[in-house]
Amino acid sequence: MDGYTLKNQKPTHKDFLDTSDFDQAEIMDIIRLSRTVREYIKGGGYLNALFHKTLAMLFEQKSTRTRVSFEVAMAQLGGHALNLAPGAIQLGAHETIEDTARVFGRMCDMAMARVDRHESVEALARYADIPVINGMSDRVHPTQGVGDMITVFDHWPEGKEAKDIKFVFVGDATQVCNTLCEITTKLGFNFVHYGPANHKIGDEWLEKGRANAEKYGGSCDWSEDPECLRGADFIYTDVWYGLYDKETPKEVYMKDFYPKYQVNEEMMAATENPNCKFMHCLPANRNEEVTDAVLDGANSAAWDEAENRLTAQRGLVLYFGGVAQATLDYIKQQKEAK
Ligand code: CP
Repeated sequence: MDGYTLKNQKPTHKDFLDTSDFDQAEIMDIIRLSRTVREYIKGGGYLNALFHKTLAMLFEQKSTRTRVSFEVAMAQLGGHALNLAPGAIQLGAHETIEDTARVFGRMCDMAMARVDRHESVEALARYADIPVINGMSDRVHPTQGVGDMITVFDHWPEGKEAKDIKFVFVGDATQVCNTLCEITTKLGFNFVHYGPANHKIGDEWLEKGRANAEKYGGSCDWSEDPECLRGADFIYTDVWYGLYDKETPKEVYMKDFYPKYQVNEEMMAATENPNCKFMHCLPANRNEEVTDAVLDGANSAAWDEAENRLTAQRGLVLYFGGVAQATLDYIKQQKEAK
């Protein structure tokens, strides 16, 4: 993309369920599109690319960032988002996900779902004849991954190339960890999961990461050795408990992760990189997986990262809504007319 021309004029897949389905060029198209639209909107520009378009948002779990960012993105682009949850609609009572999907497909232009089980968002995509975006499942969190890579580009370490970037994910191998393993290696970075053996990232993801590294450069690894922190450009963490496993008591997780895997000033210093940025998908359990000093510190990119959920969602709804190139053409025209 030259800034205004997409390499892929339309998505290779109808749905955005997992970053694994897309190659580097397509992910970069979405990232550049998102950043261009952000620049235009922040500069006072208005877009109406999704005028009269609707996004059905299905939440089987709570959300602040995902819900607000999709709703704001649709409003800023001239469309409308519907916030739907089991209990408020027939799903879960006596209507199946497949029939819910059929109805969404007849009434809405796109759907986004945060689900308990990945199979649910796959079923939604299969039975709804409209683009479906995964707003987090027990397997992956692809919209988080796109926002996070936008944040990496915003905080790109001076003088470095992709193959020099070291991205260390600390703690539990959550669905965010899976997505980051996949997307960072797709962009040619060096990814390490630093966590205990009983919470190690799945071999499936390490294999995907290593296959990406062969194709795009970089590397992919898991380690329990704090030595792996040295030279990190980005330290990322997520909560240790309560996300999908509601059974295991908090104390069990705390014993596995605390204090070794807490991101604190000592861990940031162990990177030996004074410019190393801290990232967190949020919400955070403050002073558990990350200390206040790091989360609120000068090297924290976590709040830019939260804002970039909106940056990413605008790009994603434009891209999967089929109006990405038309939007870029319009922005280019408006800039040239100035
Ligand atoms: N990071 C994230 O998905 O936040 P929410 O759960 O608030 O949507």
